[in-house]
Amino acid sequence: MPRDWDAYYRADPGAREPAFVVRAYEFLIPEGGVLDLAGGDGRNAFFLARRGRRVTLLDKSPVAVSRVREVAWRDGTAVRALQIDLEENPPVLPPGPFAGVVVSYFVSRPLVARLEALLVAGGLVLIEGFNRCEALRRGRPGSPYYWDSGELTVPPRGLELVAAGEGWQGAACRSWAVWRRAGL
Ligand SMILES: C[S@@+](CC[C@H](N)C(=O)[O-])C[C@H]1O[C@@H](n2cnc3c(N)ncnc32)[C@H](O)[C@@H]1O
Repeated sequence: MPRDWDAYYRADPGAREPAFVVRAYEFLIPEGGVLDLAGGDGRNAFFLARRGRRVTLLDKSPVAVSRVREVAWRDGTAVRALQIDLEENPPVLPPGPFAGVVVSYFVSRPLVARLEALLVAGGLVLIEGFNRCEALRRGRPGSPYYWDSGELTVPPRGLELVAAGEGWQGAACRSWAVWRRAGL
């Protein structure tokens, strides 16, 4: 996304709660490792690790990745962080397969189309982000970095819808969904 994420993380956004969909649906992820795509400074990854998950976090920002590595080392948590540009065509992704994939506040439709291959049968995607109504509120009606209304209710090929919702949460308009790889 067009923002200086290194500067954002250097300014230290501080501890933040995990995304709603991660808090609410983590329990449905089958046993196994979780991949956190564009995981930033790890609010979701550390939440999952505290619940016994091994998490691999990918992010483009070297500042975010070093912060995650430092905290994981200091606290002895099972979070591995890799610096990867997910907008490369195609990005080099860890082979997996994973029991869960988190896509939290990172909009890449080409990446979403590749999620099936990253998951075990029965594996879950937890996805959340700002919705088109938030883009309107921010004066960016045509920006591609927002999910359209209803978009997350239509999973990509190979995945089925488990749950979804959208609307105002706190001060912002958001969409979230849970998708499952068919096969169990
Ligand atoms: C809004 S933050 C979300 C971070 C985290 N998922 C969360 O919910 O807290 C967007 C993240 O996407 C990362 N990012 C932006 N472009 C990227 C790219 N091309 N490849 C990988 N990560 C990217 C940024 O560094 C930033 O950490």
